[in-house]
Amino acid sequence: MASDALALPKTVTEESVLAVRHWTDELFSFRLTRPASFRFRSGEFVLLGLMNGEKPLLRAYSIASPSWDDGLDFYSIKVSDGPLTSRLQHIQPGDPVLLGRKPTGTLVLDALKPGRRLFLLSTGTGIAPFASLLREPETYEKFDRVVLTHTCRNVADLACGAELVDALAEDPLVGEIAPQRVTYYASTTREDFVHTGRITDLIASGKLFADLGLEGFDPASDRVMICGSMAMIADTKALCEGAGLAEGSNANPGDFLVEKAFAD
Ligand code: A2P
Repeated sequence: MASDALALPKTVTEESVLAVRHWTDELFSFRLTRPASFRFRSGEFVLLGLMNGEKPLLRAYSIASPSWDDGLDFYSIKVSDGPLTSRLQHIQPGDPVLLGRKPTGTLVLDALKPGRRLFLLSTGTGIAPFASLLREPETYEKFDRVVLTHTCRNVADLACGAELVDALAEDPLVGEIAPQRVTYYASTTREDFVHTGRITDLIASGKLFADLGLEGFDPASDRVMICGSMAMIADTKALCEGAGLAEGSNANPGDFLVEKAFAD
C-alpha cells in the first residue's frame, strides 16, 4: 500500500467507483466519489484514468454531473484496443480511478454572451457536458429555453440522453423548471427513428427549426454549444458562423462554443 501511495502523481487523486452502467456494447457510464477540494464549473472536463504499471494513463473526460452534485458522473465509449477504455470498461463499484485536480473547458455559461435561447448540439458521448449543464440552475437563470439535440448512429445509443431528459423532472434543484424549458430533439443516422439525419443536415435543410417551430438561429438572442467529433464540430461551427454567430471563449465570451467529445 505504501508504495502505491508513493507512485500516485501529485496532479491526481485516487477516487472510488460508486456505480457503473453499461448502455450498449460501445457505451457505459460511471459515477466516482468527489473529493471535497474538487471544484469545477458545469460543462468542464477533467483528466481521469488508471495506473498503468508505474505510470498513470489519463484521458480527458467531460463531467456529466452538475457542479453542485456530491459525486462525479462520466460517459465513456469502449474501444477494445483503446489503451484506457479497454481496461476502464471493466471497472466495478469500489475500484480506484485516478482523477485530475484541474478541471477546465470552454463549454461553460460564462463563455457565452447573454441570450434567450440556448442550443446544446451533441453527437455520441458529446452529450456529457450538456448532461451537466441541464442540471445546473444557472442555465435557467440565463436562458428562457434550452434545446438539446443528440444524434447517434443507432436508437440504442440515444438511451442515456433520453433517460437524462426524463430524469430532469425529479432533479432536486432544477426539477420544477427544467421540464418546461428544455426541448429534446434526438436523431439517428444509421437506423430508422422519429427523426433521422446528421445535425448538420437538419440545420442546413431547416428541418430542425421547422420541427421545433422556430425560424433558424437568431444571432441577437440564440446561443449555441457544440460537442462531438472533430468533423462534427468543424461542420456545425461553419453553419453557426454562416448564421452570423461568433465563437466565444473563457477570455472572450461569444455566441457559440465548441469542444471535442474526447475518445480513446
Ligand atoms: P453518421 O452515421 O452519418 O456518420 P460517431 O459514432 O462516428 O462519433 O458518430 C456519432 C454521430 O455523429 C453519428 O450519427 C454520425 O453520423 C454523426 N456525425 C459524424 N460526422 C459528422 C459530421 N461531420 N457532422 C455531423 N454529424 C456527424
